[in-house]
Amino acid sequence: RQKGGIGLRGPGETQLETDRRLLRERVKALQGRLAKLEKQRQQGRRARQRAEVPVVSVVGYTNAGKSTLFNRITRADVYAADQLFATLDPTLRKLPLKGVGEIILADTVGFIRHLPHNLVAAFKSTLQETRDADLQLHVVDLADVRRDDNMQQVSAVLEEIDANHILQLVVYNKIDLLGQPARIEYNEFNQPLAVYLSAHSGEGVELLLQAIAQLLSERYIDIVVSLPPQQGIWRARFHQQHCIMQEQFDDDGYCQLTLRLSESLWQRCLKQSNGVLENCVVSAPVI
Ligand code: GTP
Repeated sequence: RQKGGIGLRGPGETQLETDRRLLRERVKALQGRLAKLEKQRQQGRRARQRAEVPVVSVVGYTNAGKSTLFNRITRADVYAADQLFATLDPTLRKLPLKGVGEIILADTVGFIRHLPHNLVAAFKSTLQETRDADLQLHVVDLADVRRDDNMQQVSAVLEEIDANHILQLVVYNKIDLLGQPARIEYNEFNQPLAVYLSAHSGEGVELLLQAIAQLLSERYIDIVVSLPPQQGIWRARFHQQHCIMQEQFDDDGYCQLTLRLSESLWQRCLKQSNGVLENCVVSAPVI
């Protein structure tokens, strides 16, 4: 069909050709936007890695209740804190966690059976967050009769995107539908394996935060350093990293800092200081 209109159709173009051209342009524009988004995400991720903020990503089968849980956790009234949550992206939220400091919670797309490969590519930037996470929350609909099968599907996708080596905490959601109590399930080393809760009612969400804090803080160490006055730069750097738990000055101008930081950050600092920090350590666990 030939259609009229100024600027819509090139000379001699049929309607079908015009439609195709417009679609091609739209696909190109969307691909461009996706590439830009991917780049922004990468930059953000690098900055976060530099800042050593632990990332907790939420994964799970579609309809498991990921978004409900995400919203529940990031609502100020669930987790009593006098700080506002900084929005980094619609699916990324920064929030303070007792004993750990700030963490980033990342929501992801719902996983489905036989996720087409081109779809995986399209969501790569979101899934990348999962691959780089310090902890995965695998949300499962406990009331769904196909829950075991769904869990396997999720594991298969995680394997496909190379995110199956990350520390995982299973979140059995929707206990309200089954009348089950909220609880944490531990392994023989007293490490949390799963949390039973209801994202809808909020029951058990505090337990989840407790379990996350336990799992994340296991990767952190406490160190006391005594910095001479000329090493003030290190005090500033530790402040920047939000890892000073306590600080005290003595009469000679020495500054005693109690630090809580991840092992890798500590190792990096040691390396950068060329032996200076090593000589300032008052007490540190053997790594
Ligand atoms: P996708 O975006 O498809 O991946 O889904 P999702 O995993 O983000 O699930 P979502 O949070 O959208 O929840 C799916 C449905 O389950 C919604 O109708 C929620 O209201 C409901 N739901 C979530 N959590 C609970 C819960 O604890 N109890 C009950 N009864 N329903 C819940």
